[in-house]
Amino acid sequence: MAKSIENMLINGIETWAPTLSVKRAVVDFSSPNIAKKMHVGHLRSTIIGDTIARMLEYSNVEVLRRNHVGDWGTQFGMLIENLFEKFPDSNSAMETAIEDIQSLYKPSKTKFDADLDFKRKAQQAVVRLQGGDPVYHKTWQKLCEISRADYAEIYQRLRVELEEKGESFYKPYIANMIEELNSKGLVEESDGARVMFIKDFKNPCMLVKSDGGFTYDTTDLAALWYRLNEEKAEWIIYVTDAGQQEHFDRFFKAARQVGWLPDNDETYPRVSHVKFGVVKGEDGKRFRNRDREIVPLADLLDEAKTRSKAALIERALAKEKEWTPEELDQTAEAIGYGAVKYADLMNNISTDYKFSYDKMLNEKGNTAVYLLYAHARICSIIKKSGKDIDELKKTGKLALDHANERALGLHLLQFAETVEEACTKLLPHILCEYLYDLSEHYTKFYSNCQVNGSAEETSRLLLCEATAIVMRKCFHLLGITPVYMI
Ligand code: ARG
Repeated sequence: MAKSIENMLINGIETWAPTLSVKRAVVDFSSPNIAKKMHVGHLRSTIIGDTIARMLEYSNVEVLRRNHVGDWGTQFGMLIENLFEKFPDSNSAMETAIEDIQSLYKPSKTKFDADLDFKRKAQQAVVRLQGGDPVYHKTWQKLCEISRADYAEIYQRLRVELEEKGESFYKPYIANMIEELNSKGLVEESDGARVMFIKDFKNPCMLVKSDGGFTYDTTDLAALWYRLNEEKAEWIIYVTDAGQQEHFDRFFKAARQVGWLPDNDETYPRVSHVKFGVVKGEDGKRFRNRDREIVPLADLLDEAKTRSKAALIERALAKEKEWTPEELDQTAEAIGYGAVKYADLMNNISTDYKFSYDKMLNEKGNTAVYLLYAHARICSIIKKSGKDIDELKKTGKLALDHANERALGLHLLQFAETVEEACTKLLPHILCEYLYDLSEHYTKFYSNCQVNGSAEETSRLLLCEATAIVMRKCFHLLGITPVYMI
């Protein structure tokens, strides 16, 4: 056991990476709908999807991080039609209005629901857009551009990387996809629409609506075809809220019926739907702000950062520590955003969870703040020893004689199998549990085994370093930035 930890210390944590049998995977996550604000629901998909992608990447899987944005749905018909009505002859006034994209959706939707004539026009507009009408296409492009810039800002704050291939990307593949289904005798006419009936499902997959428009089913089938045949992905993972379960169950079954996927859902190529529960407020109802509106993601991140900054200032005052404004800002961000991510990931995915700033920013208990502080403390113990830890890694020996040293060492060695379990089962909370237990093992070791100034100093410093490395790797996989000062 000591030998393997020593080897990791010298050759790096990559030597502990698990090896999976799959070589390339698509993780389809975040995927907000253009012209609507990203809210706390998309937060879960973004955070969970990013961690799944990171765990797979660590396990040497090539991951295609896909942002399957809703850039082609019915919302565009009403948005564009409303813009055309409001600005019949001024393109520049319309473009200025689009800059303020968030204010467009609500009035268009109200009109869509109240005015039958407008509703009809909006539906025709979608068909025109999907058919490639240049005037509609230009306005659509502008709407997408503005939304994209909003999203980019959030992804940058969260340090999440995604490559956008939205619903519209798959348009060129739709005709052939439907043709393949048709040649296999799977397409039927139903009230003027073209549909595919699926065994055991009451509602069919809607391929082409009676007005000629395409649907969420159509683009998902075309996207799956592309991912399997063009991108050669062996495992395609979709991360959305549990409300979409029926859609995914049906469309996965459709893909099996066409013969794109094996009947057995454990065999590759394989699809998985990671379905998560809703985020609730402390009152147990759907998370909303004081005005009962959905909380935009940017506001939520601002709040977490502001609160964590206030706590850091208070702590610094008590300890008479000086922060530079940059240090304070960066640490508040690492802790604030880390807390939001960890509070989400630590829950079993399928359960709803309560969003509480007070709970997630608590220094005690199973929170990112507690874990980040634990890690910073280990680093400061190593620093205080005055020893050159890189030198010790080469020359020092690890001896795990004390029961608490052995327990900690054993837990460290379980890291690789834990990551493997968490990513094959698609359950990030398994990694969170491991990380929390690691800090508990460390605390026991540290309270019972003197490190600095003891006869076992070298070995114990190495054990501290190994713990810090594994903790940092866990943070990395969870998308959390470690801090070194507190
Ligand atoms: N845009 C969808 C939504 O916000 C999520 C898309 C998920 N991915 C997919 N391939 N259907 O609900």
